[in-house]
Amino acid sequence: MAAKLHQNLAIIGHVDHGKSTLVGRLLFETGNVPEHIIEQYREEAESRGKGGWEFAYVMDNLAEERDRGLTIDIAHKRFDTEKYFFTIVDTPGHRDFVKNMITGASQADNAVLVVAADDGVAPQTREHVFLARTLGIGELIIAVNKMDMVDYDQARYDEVRADVSKLLKQVNFRSDDATFIPISAFEGDNVAEHSEHTPWYSGPTLLEAIDDLPEPEMPTEAPLRLPIQDVYTISGIGTVPVGRVETGVLEPGMSVTFMPSGATGEVTSIEMHHEEVPKAVPGDNVGFNVRGVGKDDIKRGDVCGPAEEPPTVAETFQAQVIVMQHPSVITAGYTPVLHAHTAQVACTFESIDKKIDSKTGEVVAENPDYIEAGDAAIVTLRPQKPLVIESSAELPELGSFALRDSGQTIAAGKVLEVTPKVGAKDRKKAA
Ligand code: GTP
Ligand code: MG
Repeated sequence: MAAKLHQNLAIIGHVDHGKSTLVGRLLFETGNVPEHIIEQYREEAESRGKGGWEFAYVMDNLAEERDRGLTIDIAHKRFDTEKYFFTIVDTPGHRDFVKNMITGASQADNAVLVVAADDGVAPQTREHVFLARTLGIGELIIAVNKMDMVDYDQARYDEVRADVSKLLKQVNFRSDDATFIPISAFEGDNVAEHSEHTPWYSGPTLLEAIDDLPEPEMPTEAPLRLPIQDVYTISGIGTVPVGRVETGVLEPGMSVTFMPSGATGEVTSIEMHHEEVPKAVPGDNVGFNVRGVGKDDIKRGDVCGPAEEPPTVAETFQAQVIVMQHPSVITAGYTPVLHAHTAQVACTFESIDKKIDSKTGEVVAENPDYIEAGDAAIVTLRPQKPLVIESSAELPELGSFALRDSGQTIAAGKVLEVTPKVGAKDRKKAA
């Protein structure tokens, strides 16, 4: 395997703004999808009455996705630039599938936000930006897409750019130095080559911008944490859990424990992008074989760690949250669904401990009766089923989450302190 740096790049944004089309275009321009395959997709798209969707089909592989013309689950594809090899995580924009977008965003180092020039900032543009910010996305590149539909008009581009900048400012997301690029994923403008249709734009192409992203940090010194995304049984091999290494290193011969399940086994081999690898480091999306663990012993949402330092299962945890929206107010006893890494577990607000000023961190009220949209607070949450979560000071990769209810993101937050479940193995803290 090449010694290139690896990074995970999520593609986010509102439904139909062109995320999958952009990924298909990027893979095509970098020689990762041959022309005849695009041609084949073009014919398939036309036969489904969906002419123009050929690039999206590179990522939308499910029949239902192709019929409905939208992305449902996240999909991963590898592609290379000069400096990096990327794992692109294409996420769905439709509001029904935000839970899959959260999994995708939590696996990514950086992200490209796609905003269609004709539509501008839309509900899931907002929701995705808010989630990207709280789920630890480092840098955001904003691709203002479908410039062909607005005649490559600079005034319209400036307008969309100003709207997105305002949104970034609202959530404190590097609004000063974000990179904006006018593109057409469909026509290929400013994706791999500078477009003659936008003489007024002198910045980088999208490919140049992503190649210029900062190197992701590599928390290899921390204990292994690998949230499980799927579990397969492969004949002749056995149980193969799949997921991304968040922290630490995974190597054959290691004894690993899956929490909360508690199953323990020995790692015998590791595969990435269909090739066997000698080890996996943070950022690597891998499948690995574990001897002594059956398919039914573990499931999506479990986290794999070293047997001698297993992931923490929370009895309760204290967290800092920011409320994005709520139909009324949040009081103790409220139970939305928490989404963290690959897990989804109902969690009850046990207490609302402090209301704080999100800009200064200052406490503005002790034990308030309720919090509402726009508020920041320190709260104690109790998972209704066993859940692995870690303090964000120790393991930030496993310490952030979103709270959702009735198809809406209510809040996002980070974990301050975990009270481990009695009986679950407590992980040793480094002195
Ligand atoms: P979800 O995954 O469902 O959120 O949608 P998406 O953001 O992946 O959008 P997708 O790539 O599926 O594209 C939606 C539609 O927009 C398709 O018909 C594309 O052909 C069209 N489209 C995407 N990019 C462009 C573009 O640059 N110009 C034009 N004219 N159409 C585009
Ligand atoms: Mg899509």
